[in-house]
Formats: sequence, C-alpha cells, structure tokens
Amino acid sequence: MRQDALSAVIGAVEPSATLAIDAKAKALKAAGKDVVGFGSGEPDFDTPEHVKEAARRAIAAGCTKYTPVAGTLELRAAVAEKLRRDNGLSYEPGQIVVSCGAKHALYNAVRVLCNPGDEFIIISPYWVTYPAQVVMSGGRPVFVETSAADGFRLDPERLRRAVTPRTKAIILNSPNNPTGWAACPGELEAVAALALDRGLHVISDEIYEKIIYPPAAHASIASLGGEIKRRTIVVNGVSKSHSMTGWRIGYLAAEPAIAALAERLQSHSTSNPDSIAQAAAVEALRGDQSFTAMMAGEFRARRDSIVGRLRAVPGVSCTMPMGAFYAFPDISGTGMGSMALAEALLEQALVAVVPGAAFGADGHVRLSYATSMENIERGMDRIEEFIRLKTAGG
Ligand SMILES: Cc1ncc(COP(=O)(O)O)c(C=O)c1O
Repeated sequence: MRQDALSAVIGAVEPSATLAIDAKAKALKAAGKDVVGFGSGEPDFDTPEHVKEAARRAIAAGCTKYTPVAGTLELRAAVAEKLRRDNGLSYEPGQIVVSCGAKHALYNAVRVLCNPGDEFIIISPYWVTYPAQVVMSGGRPVFVETSAADGFRLDPERLRRAVTPRTKAIILNSPNNPTGWAACPGELEAVAALALDRGLHVISDEIYEKIIYPPAAHASIASLGGEIKRRTIVVNGVSKSHSMTGWRIGYLAAEPAIAALAERLQSHSTSNPDSIAQAAAVEALRGDQSFTAMMAGEFRARRDSIVGRLRAVPGVSCTMPMGAFYAFPDISGTGMGSMALAEALLEQALVAVVPGAAFGADGHVRLSYATSMENIERGMDRIEEFIRLKTAGG
C-alpha cells in the first residue's frame, strides 16, 4: 500500500503517548505480574442497578431500532431538564444532539465550527483528544500554558494574548483532566468577557461536573448570560457522572444553527447513538441521583489519601485537585522525565501511571484514583520506595 495515498490530515495526528505504556502494562498483567494501575480514565464503580434495569426494559419493549439521529425526543427532553435543573440553562430539545459519548459530541462541535486554518485555544495541560480533534478538522491548536505553581489557574492576560484574527474558539474543560483544576466564577467571567469581546465560541467540556470537591462548585460558562450562552457549545454526558463509560452516551447543547449542523454531520457519520443506552441514559438523568453523590464522596476520600502520600515522596509535589479523579504531581524534582519515570515505574515497581508528556506537561505524571483505597496504598508504597531509592542514588 502506498503511504502517500493515505490521509495526510489523520497522519498528522500524534499517536497517543500513553499507548506504549498501556500496552506494556497489559502485557505484564497478561504474563501474571501484579501490576497496580493508576491509568484508568473511568470510575471503578458499576453502573447503578436502576439504570441497568431501564436498559433491560428497553430491550424487552423492542427499543432496538434506529432512533432520530440526534437522539430520542425523550432523552433530549431529559437532557434539557437536566441542564435546567443543574445548570440553570434553558434549551429546547431541538438544541440538543446526543452522540456516542462526550468525545463524539466534542468532535461534532469542533467539526461544525472549524474552517481550514481556524485556531482553537486549548488550555495546557490538556486532555490529549482536543488537539487531535482540532487537527483532524483542519484547524490549528494554540496552547495557553498554566502551571502547578498557582494551581493551574487561568491567566486571563495570557489567554487574551493567544487570540489572533484566526481564533475560532476556546476549549474549556472544568473540572479538568488531567490537572484537577476547576474554574472559579472570576475565571469563567474572564473567558466569557474575552469570547464576547473578540467574537469567539466556547466549547465547554463539563463531563466531570459531578465530580467536584467543596468548596469548589461547578458552574457552566453558558449560565453567565444570554450572549455567552449563544456563543457556547456545552458538552456533557453520563459516562463519568453515572459510571456509564461503556454505554457511550454524551451530548451537546447549542444554538439551533450549530445543533442542526452537528445533527447533519452525525447523520452522515454514525447516525443515532445506541437505542438501548439512550433509554438507560433517560433513567440516569431522571432517576435517583444518590449514586453520583456517593461516588463523589468516595473519590474525595481517595483524593485526600493519594495526594497526602504523593506529597511525602522526595522530589514530588502535588496540587490538591478540585475536581475529576486524577492527581497530577510535579515529578521534575526526581530528575526524570515523565516518559522515563512512567517506564521505570512500570518495569521496576509494577505501577502504571500516565506520563504527563501525553498532556503537554513532561514534568508531571497522572495518577487516576478511580481505584480502591487498597490499591492506592499498595501502589503508593511501591512508588515511594522506588523514588526514595532513585533519589538516594540507588
Ligand atoms: C476531559 C474529557 N472529556 C471527555 C471525555 C470523554 O467522555 P466519553 O467517555 O463520554 O466520550 C473524557 C474521557 O476520558 C475526558 O477525560
């Protein structure tokens, strides 16, 4: 096969820097090694039983055919209710497009905004998929740095300096993967003011909305006023809030013209998301919400434990995450880069972490605490021992 016959656009996307580590961890596990994994990007809880039951009922009732491309009317109504109830946002069901996970909703959002060469501002460290989706859409990612020293806070001046006549949108992710940062009202207001001033769109990825630790509290940037709401595409889903990563249900909410284009794009790519998963998502959004609060409480206890342990390791410092389920320690004091440290931890200490290089932050590694307290203790014992030996010159 001639390589030059393949898509140059897709070829330009970097392969995920996490894949090599992940493949190695899986190979070690398959060989019977006791690997402690901090790589997971999904809650370790099962989907709530009442949600599963709704899926069984949907199968029994024959909900096994195509649905409307943008999702069933019932689910879009349930999403609209959720956005009103939780976020104070008013959308008609026609402004909502349900997709195969929030990742798919984000891709639709980027695709329908992007013309060739358009710039999308991505706040760094960033979830690795954002730049890939921008590149695959023919756009150009522009990164705005934040740093651990000030808790990954957004510097509005730095953001403003990154805007050019080609800037199309700012991609905002609060609570944040990988840093755990959650925007305060002042930061949201600064982004909104800039977007309105320069005529930009905002893609607001709120998938970790429900995993946030008081006193931090989630607010959607779209709730700051009618004008910014019209410029914002809100993206959310049930993957993290209801531990439904495998069901693949996410959505966007936007101005009618944007939603219509997203629906058109989806009609020619995937069509509707899974009909049974949609029925389950209706129950997730309308039913008992106590599971989500329980899960967030568990994550909070684990966060306190893992951050406490990380801060006790020589050469390591760690900001306190305000949301999501990742710790993102600065490991530059160990004298190792993130790829080298992740590889060494895996091979020599049997602990899997994700190198920060994958998120544009080589001085960090990401540890998911979507794993049991027992695993956190075991894994942290190994990490601490390994780094103590290394930094002692061992
Ligand atoms: C920041 C962020 N956005 C979106 C997603 C995708 O969610 P989904 O599984 O609904 O596609 C993830 C998943 O890891 C994520 O971390």
